[in-house]
Amino acid sequence: MEFENMLQQGATIDDVKMFARSIIEGERNRIATLANISALLNQYLSQINWVGFYLLIPGTDSLVLGPFQGLVACTRIAVGQGVVGQCAKLHQTIVVPNVLEFPGHIACDSQSRSEIVVPIHSGQQMVGVLDVDSPEFDRFHEPEQEVLETVAQLLGENWTQMTQN
Ligand code: SME
Repeated sequence: MEFENMLQQGATIDDVKMFARSIIEGERNRIATLANISALLNQYLSQINWVGFYLLIPGTDSLVLGPFQGLVACTRIAVGQGVVGQCAKLHQTIVVPNVLEFPGHIACDSQSRSEIVVPIHSGQQMVGVLDVDSPEFDRFHEPEQEVLETVAQLLGENWTQMTQN
């Protein structure tokens, strides 16, 4: 299936990237930016039940829940734990076609069947991850990976300029 068909409201990949860029370039506050990026992805990606961020707590091996859309989720995940923690440990995208078969998968939403987790790098530093869950098996492929990695790259490039106020 074409990626365009897996986006809602007739949006294209380029539309989503353009919206993401305008959110990131239009606001310097980090929480506001991450909140709107999670809302954007929730609005345009079809067949997903959770999308959001886990952010590395500087100087620790622990990630804490950031802005997201979906059910209440676990708040802290250690580097190495679950899909999120594996992504943070390996610094690379992890695609899980069937979360039921992923050793150590953390089930925040029992409806989730597949998952993709993309790292966010600011320079050489891994600063957090973007996590998306789907109630469908095998939901995430190269097109989704590409758009999520583009969003993560945009965030990483702007990370140090983002503020807390
Ligand atoms: N499933 C993730 C935990 C985060 S929730 O999906 C929101 C994991 O195994 O790390």
